Amino acid sequence: MPTPIIFDTDPGVDDAQAIALIMLDPEIEVVGLTTTFGNVHVDTATRNALLLAELAGQDIPVAQGAAYPLAKTPHDVPAHIHGADGLGNQDLPEPKGKAVEQTAAQFIVEQTRQRPGEITLVAVGPLGNLATAIQLDPDVVNRVKQVVIMGGSIMRGGNVTPVAEANMFSDPHAASRVLTAKWPLTLVGLDVTHETVIEPERMARIREAQGALGEVLAKSYDFYADFYREALGIDGCCPHDSCAVAWLRRPDLFTTVRGHLSVVTEGLAEGQTLFAPEGRGFVGDRWMQSPLVDVCMGVDGKAAVDWMESVLTA
Ligand code: RIB
Ligand code: CA
Repeated sequence: MPTPIIFDTDPGVDDAQAIALIMLDPEIEVVGLTTTFGNVHVDTATRNALLLAELAGQDIPVAQGAAYPLAKTPHDVPAHIHGADGLGNQDLPEPKGKAVEQTAAQFIVEQTRQRPGEITLVAVGPLGNLATAIQLDPDVVNRVKQVVIMGGSIMRGGNVTPVAEANMFSDPHAASRVLTAKWPLTLVGLDVTHETVIEPERMARIREAQGALGEVLAKSYDFYADFYREALGIDGCCPHDSCAVAWLRRPDLFTTVRGHLSVVTEGLAEGQTLFAPEGRGFVGDRWMQSPLVDVCMGVDGKAAVDWMESVLTA
């Protein structure tokens, strides 16, 4: 029986790879895509989500969500990393379809009401839509099967500040709300995503296998890989968002640690994810107040990317 998921996303080059992955994996049922600002403005995220679903030949509901962070002043979109269009500046056609009327948060609340206990939320952008869903209907935390989040960093440092990962930094107040809610949650952060690389020869095989969708993935990858070469000196790019899907489908490739998360919302460390492993003693218990969650701390990076490629070239 395929795993039903709602995929919350800010496409975004690596988001696009993950969207292709969930669309092509027969073991996943995509209940819907919900969009947020982050790598791009939310209108662009919605346009890209609609376009990618059409390129994959799938009729998937897309619900538009957060245009801004809950509280902080928005910062500029990282057009130098994902392109102004979020897909490497490819000058793509407009999608034929339109987003549904519901907002992302309303879609999440409604779908989990219709299918209590069945749906996994996979969130790979800033977390405003999930935070708003909790605000709209606090019982949503009891109706999801589980929540898988690409974001944060425990031991690996940040990618947008010395300590903060991009999705958490973009909306730390939403992140704090979501990572400390009482729902089953697994965090897939830079500790593992920085252990995975899609190399150029893999993307060439994906391009070959996936027609028009493969072309879009390959061209956006080329733009993104240029940034990774200059910024991190690697030949390829880290499939951050696809790692969240890989954990869901191949948890055997990952190791997790259970503990308590908290998110810094102000000051120099805003967006930092703090982690207190279960059972560890610290000076005081301020860091152990939130519900226990699972954090990915290790991965067989090559096997994870092998799995991604196996789905994307099937
Ligand atoms: O830090 C990586 C995350 O930020 C990924 O989700 C990427 O798409 C960007 O949103
Ligand atoms: Ca993303």
